[in-house]
Amino acid sequence: MKNYKLAIVGATGVVGRTALKVLEEKQLPIAEYVLFASKRSSGKTLPFMGKDYVVRELTEHSFDEGFDFAIFSAGGDIAKKYAPIAASCGCIVVDNSSAFRMDPTVPLVVPEVNPEEIVNHHGIIANPNCSTIQAVVALKPLDDAYHIKRIVYSTYQAVSGAGIRGIEDLRQGIEQYVSSPKNTNTSYLQKFPYPIFNNCLPHIDSFLENGYTKEEEKMINETRKILKRPDLKITATTVRVPVFNCHSEAINVEFEKDFELQQLIHTLTTSPGVVVQNTQGNRNMPYPLATTCDGHDEVFVGRIRRDRSVDSGVNLWVVADNIRKGAASNAIQIVEKMMEENV
Ligand code: A2P
Repeated sequence: MKNYKLAIVGATGVVGRTALKVLEEKQLPIAEYVLFASKRSSGKTLPFMGKDYVVRELTEHSFDEGFDFAIFSAGGDIAKKYAPIAASCGCIVVDNSSAFRMDPTVPLVVPEVNPEEIVNHHGIIANPNCSTIQAVVALKPLDDAYHIKRIVYSTYQAVSGAGIRGIEDLRQGIEQYVSSPKNTNTSYLQKFPYPIFNNCLPHIDSFLENGYTKEEEKMINETRKILKRPDLKITATTVRVPVFNCHSEAINVEFEKDFELQQLIHTLTTSPGVVVQNTQGNRNMPYPLATTCDGHDEVFVGRIRRDRSVDSGVNLWVVADNIRKGAASNAIQIVEKMMEENV
Protein backbone atom coordinates (compact mmCIF):
# COMPACT_ATOMS: atom_id res chain seq x y z
CA MET A 1 0.00 0.00 0.00
CA LYS A 2 1.19 3.50 -0.79
CA ASN A 3 2.48 5.67 2.04
CA TYR A 4 0.85 9.03 1.71
CA LYS A 5 1.82 12.60 2.57
CA LEU A 6 -0.80 14.72 4.34
CA ALA A 7 -0.98 18.45 5.14
CA ILE A 8 -3.12 19.73 8.00
CA VAL A 9 -3.98 23.38 7.41
CA GLY A 10 -5.21 25.18 10.53
CA ALA A 11 -3.51 22.58 12.74
CA THR A 12 -3.53 24.89 15.77
CA GLY A 13 -7.30 25.48 15.74
CA VAL A 14 -10.04 23.55 17.50
CA VAL A 15 -10.78 21.32 14.50
CA GLY A 16 -7.10 21.03 13.52
CA ARG A 17 -6.05 19.81 16.97
CA THR A 18 -8.88 17.30 17.01
CA ALA A 19 -7.83 16.13 13.54
CA LEU A 20 -4.37 15.39 14.98
CA LYS A 21 -5.98 13.36 17.76
CA VAL A 22 -8.15 11.39 15.32
CA LEU A 23 -5.15 10.76 13.06
CA GLU A 24 -3.20 9.40 16.04
CA GLU A 25 -6.07 7.04 16.82
CA LYS A 26 -6.52 5.85 13.23
CA GLN A 27 -2.88 5.28 12.24
CA LEU A 28 -3.57 5.59 8.51
CA PRO A 29 -0.86 4.63 6.00
CA ILE A 30 0.63 8.13 6.05
CA ALA A 31 4.39 8.44 5.90
CA GLU A 32 4.65 12.19 6.34
CA TYR A 33 2.55 14.87 7.99
CA VAL A 34 3.08 18.63 7.69
CA LEU A 35 1.24 21.04 9.99
CA PHE A 36 0.35 24.53 8.76
CA ALA A 37 -1.22 27.55 10.45
CA SER A 38 -0.86 31.33 10.22
CA LYS A 39 2.37 33.27 10.56
CA ARG A 40 1.48 33.81 14.24
CA SER A 41 1.97 30.09 14.94
CA SER A 42 5.03 29.57 12.77
CA GLY A 43 7.72 27.76 14.79
CA LYS A 44 5.35 26.67 17.59
CA THR A 45 5.29 22.97 18.29
CA LEU A 46 2.35 20.63 18.69
CA PRO A 47 2.63 17.17 20.26
CA PHE A 48 1.65 14.62 17.61
CA MET A 49 2.45 10.96 16.99
CA GLY A 50 4.78 10.88 19.98
CA LYS A 51 6.94 13.83 19.00
CA ASP A 52 6.84 17.60 18.74
CA TYR A 53 5.83 18.81 15.29
CA VAL A 54 6.91 22.30 14.28
CA VAL A 55 4.04 24.32 12.80
CA ARG A 56 4.83 26.00 9.49
CA GLU A 57 3.40 29.21 8.09
CA LEU A 58 1.00 28.58 5.21
CA THR A 59 2.20 30.33 2.06
CA GLU A 60 1.46 30.19 -1.66
CA HIS A 61 4.42 27.83 -2.04
CA SER A 62 3.51 25.44 0.77
CA PHE A 63 2.21 22.81 -1.65
CA ASP A 64 5.12 22.94 -4.10
CA GLU A 65 6.84 20.09 -2.27
CA GLY A 66 3.97 17.73 -3.18
CA PHE A 67 1.19 16.33 -1.00
CA ASP A 68 -1.35 13.58 -1.63
CA PHE A 69 -4.00 15.09 0.65
CA ALA A 70 -4.65 18.23 2.69
CA ILE A 71 -7.27 18.72 5.37
CA PHE A 72 -8.16 22.41 5.59
CA SER A 73 -9.71 23.78 8.81
CA ALA A 74 -8.74 27.43 8.64
CA GLY A 75 -11.97 29.12 7.51
CA GLY A 76 -13.46 30.15 4.21
CA ASP A 77 -11.08 32.92 3.19
CA ILE A 78 -8.00 30.72 3.59
CA ALA A 79 -9.73 27.88 1.74
CA LYS A 80 -10.73 30.13 -1.16
CA LYS A 81 -7.16 31.34 -1.57
CA TYR A 82 -5.10 28.22 -0.86
CA ALA A 83 -7.27 25.20 -1.72
CA PRO A 84 -7.12 25.89 -5.49
CA ILE A 85 -3.34 26.36 -5.19
CA ALA A 86 -3.01 23.01 -3.39
CA ALA A 87 -5.26 21.30 -5.95
CA SER A 88 -3.22 22.73 -8.83
CA CYS A 89 -0.17 21.05 -7.28
CA GLY A 90 -1.93 17.65 -7.41
CA CYS A 91 -3.02 17.60 -3.77
CA ILE A 92 -6.59 16.52 -2.96
CA VAL A 93 -8.09 19.00 -0.49
CA VAL A 94 -10.83 18.14 1.99
CA ASP A 95 -12.07 21.51 3.14
CA ASN A 96 -14.02 22.09 6.34
CA SER A 97 -15.22 25.59 5.48
CA SER A 98 -18.35 26.58 3.60
CA ALA A 99 -16.32 28.07 0.72
CA PHE A 100 -16.96 25.29 -1.83
CA ARG A 101 -19.87 23.33 -0.39
CA MET A 102 -22.54 24.54 -2.79
CA ASP A 103 -20.26 24.58 -5.84
CA PRO A 104 -21.92 22.03 -8.17
CA THR A 105 -18.48 20.80 -9.28
CA VAL A 106 -17.39 20.05 -5.70
CA PRO A 107 -18.59 16.86 -3.97
CA LEU A 108 -20.10 17.43 -0.52
CA VAL A 109 -19.49 14.17 1.28
CA VAL A 110 -20.52 12.26 4.38
CA PRO A 111 -18.96 8.81 3.95
CA GLU A 112 -21.92 6.91 5.48
CA VAL A 113 -24.36 8.77 3.22
CA ASN A 114 -22.95 9.54 -0.24
CA PRO A 115 -19.48 7.96 -0.55
CA GLU A 116 -20.10 7.48 -4.28
CA GLU A 117 -19.63 11.24 -4.75
CA ILE A 118 -15.95 11.16 -3.77
CA VAL A 119 -14.78 10.06 -7.22
CA ASN A 120 -16.32 13.16 -8.80
CA HIS A 121 -13.80 15.54 -7.29
CA HIS A 122 -11.60 17.94 -9.24
CA GLY A 123 -9.06 18.36 -6.47
CA ILE A 124 -11.41 19.69 -3.78
CA ILE A 125 -13.97 17.84 -1.66
CA ALA A 126 -16.11 19.79 0.78
CA ASN A 127 -16.85 18.63 4.31
CA PRO A 128 -20.41 19.64 5.18
CA ASN A 129 -21.47 21.91 8.02
CA CYS A 130 -21.32 20.15 11.39
CA SER A 131 -25.07 20.35 11.99
CA THR A 132 -25.80 18.96 8.55
CA ILE A 133 -23.45 15.99 8.91
CA GLN A 134 -25.09 14.54 12.00
CA ALA A 135 -28.58 15.17 10.61
CA VAL A 136 -28.03 13.42 7.28
CA VAL A 137 -26.36 10.38 8.88
CA ALA A 138 -29.66 9.80 10.68
CA LEU A 139 -31.96 10.92 7.87
CA LYS A 140 -30.48 9.12 4.86
CA PRO A 141 -31.67 5.61 5.85
CA LEU A 142 -35.11 7.03 6.62
CA ASP A 143 -35.27 8.81 3.28
CA ASP A 144 -34.35 5.56 1.54
CA ALA A 145 -37.02 3.65 3.45
CA TYR A 146 -39.92 6.11 3.65
CA HIS A 147 -39.12 9.03 1.30
CA ILE A 148 -38.94 12.24 3.31
CA LYS A 149 -41.56 14.88 2.51
CA ARG A 150 -40.51 17.65 4.91
CA ILE A 151 -37.92 18.32 7.63
CA VAL A 152 -38.04 20.78 10.55
CA TYR A 153 -34.64 21.28 12.18
CA SER A 154 -34.19 22.88 15.62
CA THR A 155 -30.60 22.86 16.82
CA TYR A 156 -28.87 23.29 20.16
CA GLN A 157 -25.28 23.97 19.14
CA ALA A 158 -22.15 23.90 21.27
CA VAL A 159 -19.67 26.77 21.51
CA SER A 160 -16.79 24.64 20.18
CA GLY A 161 -18.37 25.11 16.75
CA ALA A 162 -17.43 28.79 17.02
CA GLY A 163 -13.72 28.01 17.52
CA ILE A 164 -11.36 28.87 20.36
CA ARG A 165 -12.89 32.32 20.92
CA GLY A 166 -16.35 30.81 21.30
CA ILE A 167 -15.10 28.36 23.91
CA GLU A 168 -13.39 31.21 25.76
CA ASP A 169 -16.61 33.27 25.80
CA LEU A 170 -18.40 30.48 27.67
CA ARG A 171 -15.47 29.71 29.97
CA GLN A 172 -14.99 33.35 30.95
CA GLY A 173 -18.74 33.87 31.36
CA ILE A 174 -18.80 31.00 33.85
CA GLU A 175 -15.74 32.37 35.68
CA GLN A 176 -17.25 35.84 35.93
CA TYR A 177 -20.53 34.46 37.24
CA VAL A 178 -18.78 32.32 39.86
CA SER A 179 -16.55 35.13 41.08
CA SER A 180 -19.10 37.95 40.83
CA PRO A 181 -22.69 36.83 40.05
CA LYS A 182 -24.12 40.35 39.68
CA ASN A 183 -21.41 41.56 37.30
CA THR A 184 -22.98 42.22 33.87
CA ASN A 185 -19.79 43.39 32.21
CA THR A 186 -19.44 41.79 28.75
CA SER A 187 -16.05 43.17 27.76
CA TYR A 188 -14.57 39.65 27.95
CA LEU A 189 -16.60 38.52 24.91
CA GLN A 190 -14.44 37.70 21.89
CA LYS A 191 -16.85 35.85 19.60
CA PHE A 192 -20.51 36.27 20.45
CA PRO A 193 -22.45 39.56 20.50
CA TYR A 194 -24.13 38.58 23.81
CA PRO A 195 -23.06 36.37 26.70
CA ILE A 196 -23.49 32.67 25.96
CA PHE A 197 -23.26 31.62 29.61
CA ASN A 198 -26.76 31.24 31.11
CA ASN A 199 -28.19 32.18 27.72
CA CYS A 200 -29.29 30.84 24.32
CA LEU A 201 -28.47 32.74 21.14
CA PRO A 202 -31.07 32.06 18.43
CA HIS A 203 -28.73 33.19 15.66
CA ILE A 204 -25.64 31.43 14.33
CA ASP A 205 -23.61 33.14 11.60
CA SER A 206 -24.93 36.28 9.91
CA PHE A 207 -28.50 37.13 8.98
CA LEU A 208 -29.81 36.95 5.43
CA GLU A 209 -32.43 39.23 3.87
CA ASN A 210 -35.09 36.53 4.25
CA GLY A 211 -34.74 36.48 8.05
CA TYR A 212 -32.92 33.16 8.19
CA THR A 213 -29.30 32.92 9.30
CA LYS A 214 -26.52 31.55 7.12
CA GLU A 215 -26.25 28.52 9.41
CA GLU A 216 -29.92 27.72 8.78
CA GLU A 217 -29.50 28.16 5.02
CA LYS A 218 -26.44 25.89 5.12
CA MET A 219 -28.44 23.13 6.80
CA ILE A 220 -31.25 23.46 4.27
CA ASN A 221 -29.11 23.64 1.13
CA GLU A 222 -26.50 21.09 2.18
CA THR A 223 -29.13 18.52 3.21
CA ARG A 224 -30.74 18.87 -0.22
CA LYS A 225 -27.40 18.44 -1.99
CA ILE A 226 -26.22 15.44 0.06
CA LEU A 227 -29.56 13.59 -0.08
CA LYS A 228 -29.86 14.51 -3.78
CA ARG A 229 -33.31 15.95 -3.06
CA PRO A 230 -33.06 19.50 -4.49
CA ASP A 231 -36.73 20.27 -3.89
CA LEU A 232 -37.03 18.80 -0.41
CA LYS A 233 -39.07 21.02 1.94
CA ILE A 234 -36.88 21.96 4.91
CA THR A 235 -36.97 24.66 7.53
CA ALA A 236 -34.48 25.30 10.34
CA THR A 237 -33.88 27.29 13.52
CA THR A 238 -30.28 27.11 14.73
CA VAL A 239 -29.47 28.09 18.30
CA ARG A 240 -26.17 28.42 20.19
CA VAL A 241 -26.42 27.02 23.72
CA PRO A 242 -24.00 27.08 26.69
CA VAL A 243 -22.58 23.61 26.05
CA PHE A 244 -18.86 23.23 25.40
CA ASN A 245 -18.99 20.40 22.89
CA CYS A 246 -21.55 18.30 20.94
CA HIS A 247 -24.45 19.62 18.94
CA SER A 248 -27.97 18.40 19.71
CA GLU A 249 -30.82 18.56 17.21
CA ALA A 250 -34.55 18.05 17.52
CA ILE A 251 -35.56 16.86 14.05
CA ASN A 252 -39.16 16.55 12.95
CA VAL A 253 -39.58 14.51 9.77
CA GLU A 254 -42.63 13.89 7.65
CA PHE A 255 -42.66 10.99 5.18
CA GLU A 256 -44.46 10.21 1.93
CA LYS A 257 -44.85 6.55 2.95
CA ASP A 258 -46.25 5.18 6.19
CA PHE A 259 -43.99 3.46 8.66
CA GLU A 260 -44.12 1.14 11.61
CA LEU A 261 -42.24 2.68 14.55
CA GLN A 262 -40.34 -0.45 15.61
CA GLN A 263 -39.27 -1.02 12.01
CA LEU A 264 -38.06 2.61 11.74
CA ILE A 265 -36.05 2.19 14.95
CA HIS A 266 -34.61 -1.05 13.58
CA THR A 267 -33.66 0.74 10.35
CA LEU A 268 -31.75 3.36 12.36
CA THR A 269 -30.15 0.73 14.59
CA THR A 270 -28.68 -1.05 11.57
CA SER A 271 -27.54 2.10 9.75
CA PRO A 272 -23.83 2.94 9.42
CA GLY A 273 -22.53 5.48 11.90
CA VAL A 274 -25.76 5.57 13.96
CA VAL A 275 -26.14 4.53 17.60
CA VAL A 276 -29.73 4.34 18.82
CA GLN A 277 -30.14 5.22 22.50
CA ASN A 278 -33.85 5.27 22.98
CA THR A 279 -34.76 3.93 26.39
CA GLN A 280 -37.29 6.26 27.97
CA GLY A 281 -37.55 4.53 31.36
CA ASN A 282 -34.03 5.10 32.66
CA ARG A 283 -33.56 8.18 30.46
CA ASN A 284 -30.81 6.42 28.55
CA MET A 285 -30.71 8.77 25.61
CA PRO A 286 -28.12 10.92 23.88
CA TYR A 287 -26.66 13.79 25.89
CA PRO A 288 -23.79 16.07 24.85
CA LEU A 289 -21.66 14.74 27.71
CA ALA A 290 -18.38 12.87 27.73
CA THR A 291 -20.20 9.82 29.09
CA THR A 292 -22.30 9.61 25.97
CA CYS A 293 -21.48 11.56 22.80
CA ASP A 294 -18.44 13.78 23.46
CA GLY A 295 -15.29 12.18 22.05
CA HIS A 296 -17.16 9.75 19.77
CA ASP A 297 -17.53 9.54 16.00
CA GLU A 298 -21.02 8.05 15.86
CA VAL A 299 -24.28 9.95 15.60
CA PHE A 300 -26.53 9.17 18.57
CA VAL A 301 -30.33 9.08 18.14
CA GLY A 302 -33.01 8.95 20.81
CA ARG A 303 -36.49 10.22 21.76
CA ILE A 304 -37.78 8.43 18.66
CA ARG A 305 -41.54 8.89 18.61
CA ARG A 306 -44.36 9.22 16.16
CA ASP A 307 -45.50 12.78 15.38
CA ARG A 308 -49.20 12.36 15.94
CA SER A 309 -50.05 15.71 14.32
CA VAL A 310 -49.43 14.38 10.79
CA ASP A 311 -50.24 11.16 8.86
CA SER A 312 -46.66 9.89 8.73
CA GLY A 313 -44.07 11.69 10.80
CA VAL A 314 -41.46 11.12 13.46
CA ASN A 315 -39.53 13.16 16.03
CA LEU A 316 -35.85 12.44 16.64
CA TRP A 317 -33.26 13.76 19.10
CA VAL A 318 -29.86 13.60 17.38
CA VAL A 319 -26.58 14.33 19.16
CA ALA A 320 -23.00 14.13 17.90
CA ASP A 321 -19.53 15.46 18.62
CA ASN A 322 -19.53 18.45 16.27
CA ILE A 323 -15.74 18.74 16.23
CA ARG A 324 -15.15 15.04 15.58
CA LYS A 325 -17.99 13.69 13.37
CA GLY A 326 -19.09 17.21 12.49
CA ALA A 327 -15.66 18.22 11.19
CA ALA A 328 -12.32 16.46 11.85
CA SER A 329 -13.41 12.82 11.81
CA ASN A 330 -15.68 13.21 8.80
CA ALA A 331 -12.83 14.83 6.83
CA ILE A 332 -10.43 12.07 7.86
CA GLN A 333 -12.99 9.39 6.98
CA ILE A 334 -13.16 10.93 3.48
CA VAL A 335 -9.36 10.74 3.17
CA GLU A 336 -9.41 7.18 4.51
CA LYS A 337 -12.03 6.18 1.93
CA MET A 338 -9.92 7.65 -0.88
CA MET A 339 -6.91 5.71 0.36
CA GLU A 340 -8.90 2.45 0.56
CA GLU A 341 -10.30 2.94 -2.91
CA ASN A 342 -7.11 4.36 -4.39
CA VAL A 343 -9.00 7.38 -5.75
P1 A2P B 1 -3.40 30.35 14.05
O1 A2P B 1 -3.52 29.56 15.32
O2 A2P B 1 -1.99 30.54 13.65
O3 A2P B 1 -4.20 31.63 14.06
P2 A2P B 1 -10.20 28.26 15.09
O4 A2P B 1 -11.35 28.25 14.13
O5 A2P B 1 -10.28 27.20 16.11
O6 A2P B 1 -9.97 29.62 15.68
O7 A2P B 1 -8.88 27.89 14.20
C1 A2P B 1 -8.52 28.57 13.02
C2 A2P B 1 -7.28 27.94 12.43
O8 A2P B 1 -6.99 28.59 11.18
C3 A2P B 1 -6.04 28.09 13.29
O9 A2P B 1 -5.21 26.97 13.16
C4 A2P B 1 -5.40 29.32 12.67
O10 A2P B 1 -4.00 29.41 12.88
C5 A2P B 1 -5.65 29.04 11.21
N1 A2P B 1 -5.44 30.25 10.43
C6 A2P B 1 -5.96 31.48 10.64
N2 A2P B 1 -5.47 32.35 9.72
C7 A2P B 1 -4.61 31.65 8.94
C8 A2P B 1 -3.78 31.97 7.84
N3 A2P B 1 -3.72 33.22 7.34
N4 A2P B 1 -3.01 31.00 7.29
C9 A2P B 1 -3.06 29.74 7.78
N5 A2P B 1 -3.82 29.36 8.82
C10 A2P B 1 -4.59 30.30 9.40
